[in-house]
Amino acid sequence: VAVVYNHAGEDVYEKLRQVDPATLEFEPEYDIHVATVEEEYRAILTALRQEGFHARAVNLREDLRKLERLLRRNPPDVVFNLVEYFHDDAELEPNVAAFYDLYRVPYTGAPPFALALCHKKGLTKQVLLANGVPTPRFRVLAEPRIPRRHGLHYPLIVKPSRADASLGVEPGSVVYDYDQLVRQLEKVFAEFDPPILVEEFIEGRELHVAVLGNEAPELLPAIEFDFSELPPEHPAIISYDAKWNPLDEAYHRVHTICPAELSQRAMKKVRDVVLRAYRLTGCRDYARLDIRLAKRNQPFVLEVNPNPDLTEGVSFMESAEAAGYTFAQTLRKIVEFALARRPEPSRGPAPAAEPEIQLPRLVAGAGDRRRRRAGGRAG
Ligand SMILES: Nc1ncnc2c1ncn2[C@@H]1O[C@H](COP(=O)(O)OP(=O)(O)OP(=O)(O)O)[C@@H](O)[C@H]1O
Ligand SMILES: [Mg+2]
Repeated sequence: VAVVYNHAGEDVYEKLRQVDPATLEFEPEYDIHVATVEEEYRAILTALRQEGFHARAVNLREDLRKLERLLRRNPPDVVFNLVEYFHDDAELEPNVAAFYDLYRVPYTGAPPFALALCHKKGLTKQVLLANGVPTPRFRVLAEPRIPRRHGLHYPLIVKPSRADASLGVEPGSVVYDYDQLVRQLEKVFAEFDPPILVEEFIEGRELHVAVLGNEAPELLPAIEFDFSELPPEHPAIISYDAKWNPLDEAYHRVHTICPAELSQRAMKKVRDVVLRAYRLTGCRDYARLDIRLAKRNQPFVLEVNPNPDLTEGVSFMESAEAAGYTFAQTLRKIVEFALARRPEPSRGPAPAAEPEIQLPRLVAGAGDRRRRRAGGRAG
């Protein structure tokens, strides 16, 4: 297994190491010294080795020739694809997956089309709506102008429509009247490339639902977000700071509950909506869907995240552990889904004489139950 990622330049999480928690102006609930990007990749590599895979790490460091060398000269049986950016651009994430396809090297996670579609939140929502999957009503704006009578019901939320959009989600993103809407649009258009999404704000419970598998995808126990401790000026949302910034109080005031308590009927509705959205968007192997429950537990899809963050203990992996899978077992499953797509020897570059690789048996073990962060570094 080649664990492929693309990391160059400085790591902001490295710098957090120098911060003394005692100097913060609030009481931190969670550790502010979160794992660096490099440590997270290492953890995946180590876990795969524990599972018996012959695994190596490949950091592309923005060098396409490295990718080419890997795939052409020394192709692995499978790539664990952790590349989210190229040339510092999330829009190029699908192109890297397409490269593996061209070399017929199987890889974990979503194919290029699903990655490209889900980067465009507005388009994804059109696909969902056209197929009867509920998502909040919305407008996609190319410029900071919207008529007073726009037909959407307040409160609204204003957010950049591209992939890494939790950037731009802040307390002021939730607006209650036209004046606030116009002001927030001006601000967001000044900071982010269009298009910008204006969406009806769903005031219900928020669930993040992890899905694992392909022919019969498995729903892992849902994570619910508890916003009750947020300061009153912070709306009940996972803002950028609440999700990513350990130096912001919001990060320490959003908590997760997993498994979320849901009635059988609510669970059935969530399951139906999540699985339909997973299939419609072409997700593969694993994904995380962000959901809000409106009145009568009607689930609305906020966002589909193919290839979500796999940091141990949080987000996707928090759900996997609640399902009884260790971090390593979950990674093994994802690798096995990809290995099942190995090309027929006659079609692929591998010689027919190559022996089938023997997979070691699953090892049972208790998950490492470390302290959780709220949102998780989700992508
Ligand atoms: N229509 C909505 N109704 C209620 N809350 C919303 C809505 N849209 C976004 N939010 C809040 O804002 C958060 C971030 O929005 P969203 O998930 O769309 O973008 P994202 O930050 O790109 O996600 P991620 O970082 O998980 O990829 C959500 O988790 C939710 O708390
Ligand atoms: Mg999200």
